[in-house]
Amino acid sequence: MILQFIAHDEQQQCRFGAALARCLQKGMVVYLSGDLGAGKTTFTRGFLQGLGYTGNVKSPTYTLVESYEFAQLTVYHFDLYRLQDPEELELMGIRDYFNEQSIVIVEWPSKGEPLLPPADIIINMSIVPQGRTLIISASNDKAQQVLSHFQIS
Ligand SMILES: Nc1ncnc2c1ncn2[C@@H]1O[C@H](COP(=O)(O)OP(=O)(O)OP(=O)(O)O)[C@@H](O)[C@H]1O
Ligand SMILES: [Mg+2]
Repeated sequence: MILQFIAHDEQQQCRFGAALARCLQKGMVVYLSGDLGAGKTTFTRGFLQGLGYTGNVKSPTYTLVESYEFAQLTVYHFDLYRLQDPEELELMGIRDYFNEQSIVIVEWPSKGEPLLPPADIIINMSIVPQGRTLIISASNDKAQQVLSHFQIS
């Protein structure tokens, strides 16, 4: 299943993130691909707001990962843009972040290959004159099921 949308501004970009938050399940992994400025962090901010988070969402460009604790789960937001070597992921104990109580969102997943665990959902974003395109695809049956409930409010 592949879904395609255009988000015309930052607010709409957030709304797509919030829509994914409403249907995603614990234990899932989301890759956000796309050029610099394609809206990956903005989408993640919307995702976190969709879960009820009201604080600041910082880009984890320098820290590699930011954690957000919720009552039922933890969201880990990675930005691997500045990763020098995928081996660094091994050193930071990457596997511990991916578990049944977490949701992991990864910007620049290509920098983490081949050590980064695979995604359930992959979103490709591009900059277009009208805003940003989002192409959302499911990598397995469970993700397919999740995306069948994806709805913009
Ligand atoms: N759908 C949209 N339409 C227009 N502008 C947008 C849209 N989504 C995000 N933006 C704007 O684009 C800029 C870059 O967004 P953002 O930081 O989310 O990109 P990014 O993909 O995370 O970039 P990076 O790869 O540098 O981390 C921000 O100023 C944001 O407000
Ligand atoms: Mg970003």
